[in-house]
Amino acid sequence: MGYAATDMRKPIIAANWKLNKGPSDTEDFIKSFENKLADLPKGVDIVLAPPFVSLPKATELLAHSKVRVSAQNMSEKDNGAYTGEVSAFMLKEIFVNYVILGHSERRAIYGESDEMINAKILKAHEVELKPIFCIGETLQEREDGKLEDVLRTQITGGLKNVTEKQALDTVVAYEPVWAIGTGVTASPKQAQDAHEFVRSVLTDLYGVSVSEKIRIQYGGSVKADNAAELLGQKDIDGALVGGASLEASSFAELIKNGVVE
Ligand code: PGA
Repeated sequence: MGYAATDMRKPIIAANWKLNKGPSDTEDFIKSFENKLADLPKGVDIVLAPPFVSLPKATELLAHSKVRVSAQNMSEKDNGAYTGEVSAFMLKEIFVNYVILGHSERRAIYGESDEMINAKILKAHEVELKPIFCIGETLQEREDGKLEDVLRTQITGGLKNVTEKQALDTVVAYEPVWAIGTGVTASPKQAQDAHEFVRSVLTDLYGVSVSEKIRIQYGGSVKADNAAELLGQKDIDGALVGGASLEASSFAELIKNGVVE
């Protein structure tokens, strides 16, 4: 099991550190993780997403590394009277490559709507930052039989006016809300079924030749010991990892188990 890299979709595994690791913890992690890189599979994109204040340290330390850096959020605005916000241009200026948008914590705790997430995705593409666009249903929505409606609404809302070329530079992260930080993982079948559905919506929007190339990560309690089974599923092209990405050794182990070469 594990992801067998194909030409079609290179797997992508991203560490979402959330509100953890200031610059000095970021430096410690990167130094330790870089020592493990030689033992990791080559055919995988690895991304670290520290908090804003740690991004300059991360991009500086990883300037010559294959590991890429992501922000966890950004403003859809360029500048002006928006206290506390950070723009896409500012992230580009410090060499950030990706940005996580629409994470369920942003949606649930900070009230981000599909419309706002769409504006952020369009802004990210404008400056060639690659969005990691998160979607996912709550347990209640799944139990009420609304899984497909919720995912379709989030995908079509978030990708409104996103061109085919931009869609190819977008990573979708399917993260069932009930599996995030709970230790409960979707079964490989539940995850594969949802991913297959997500890809079918992408096919409706962009056609099959584009949707086959878009990478869809699974997120929600991914760990070293379940990565192989999850990433071995046909439509699962990587992982967005919270808790298990905070230690360099467990994150490295997860990548090793998840991707076979
Ligand atoms: P978790 O978080 O791996 O701790 O469940 C995943 C995420 O929220 O992206």
